[in-house]
Amino acid sequence: MKVLVTYFSETGNTKKVANAIYEAIDFEKEIKPVQEVKKTEGYDIIFCGFPVHAHSVPSKAADFIKQIPEGQKVAFFSTHGSLRGGQLPRQAFEHAISLAIKANVLGHFGTRGQVNPKVIDMLLKSPEHKAWGEEAQSAIGHPDANDLSDAKTFAAEMIAKARK
Ligand SMILES: Cc1cc2nc3c(=O)[nH]c(=O)nc-3n(C[C@H](O)[C@H](O)[C@H](O)COP(=O)(O)O)c2cc1C
Repeated sequence: MKVLVTYFSETGNTKKVANAIYEAIDFEKEIKPVQEVKKTEGYDIIFCGFPVHAHSVPSKAADFIKQIPEGQKVAFFSTHGSLRGGQLPRQAFEHAISLAIKANVLGHFGTRGQVNPKVIDMLLKSPEHKAWGEEAQSAIGHPDANDLSDAKTFAAEMIAKARK
């Protein structure tokens, strides 16, 4: 079994989750940012992570997702300022799945990631972003130890699914 963990991360939150997933894997494995992945062939499963940007997938991650080969097993993970399990981060996963149209998406995991307080101040002033800006205030300190432990559980579940 050969596993690739790849991620896009601007402020380090998604990278922390990527590292936790990587640590949980007991097979041959690689970890690198999406910008450094040269080939996507030869992996039994690819874990691909991104921060939610404007309810969607940032372009660097989207570019990577679009070229995942047909039939490739993929598990997505993301971090977001808004509350876990909400409608807003779900939209971003739906977008990721629509970009990976030919891939075999095994599952996804989302957890919170703290947002720069200056960014939050800006969001609260913008009608378009107010909804998640309000939620984002309580994301401080995330991803925390519990979030990273949940990410490891997710990794184990996805590996078990990929081996079937
Ligand atoms: C430009 C920008 C747009 C964002 N848009 C959203 C959003 O729509 N919904 C949300 O929940 N969080 C949003 N966030 C918060 C990030 O998703 C969150 O802080 C994430 O953990 C950052 O991950 P990173 O440290 O790996 O870059 C946004 C952050 C930035 C900088």
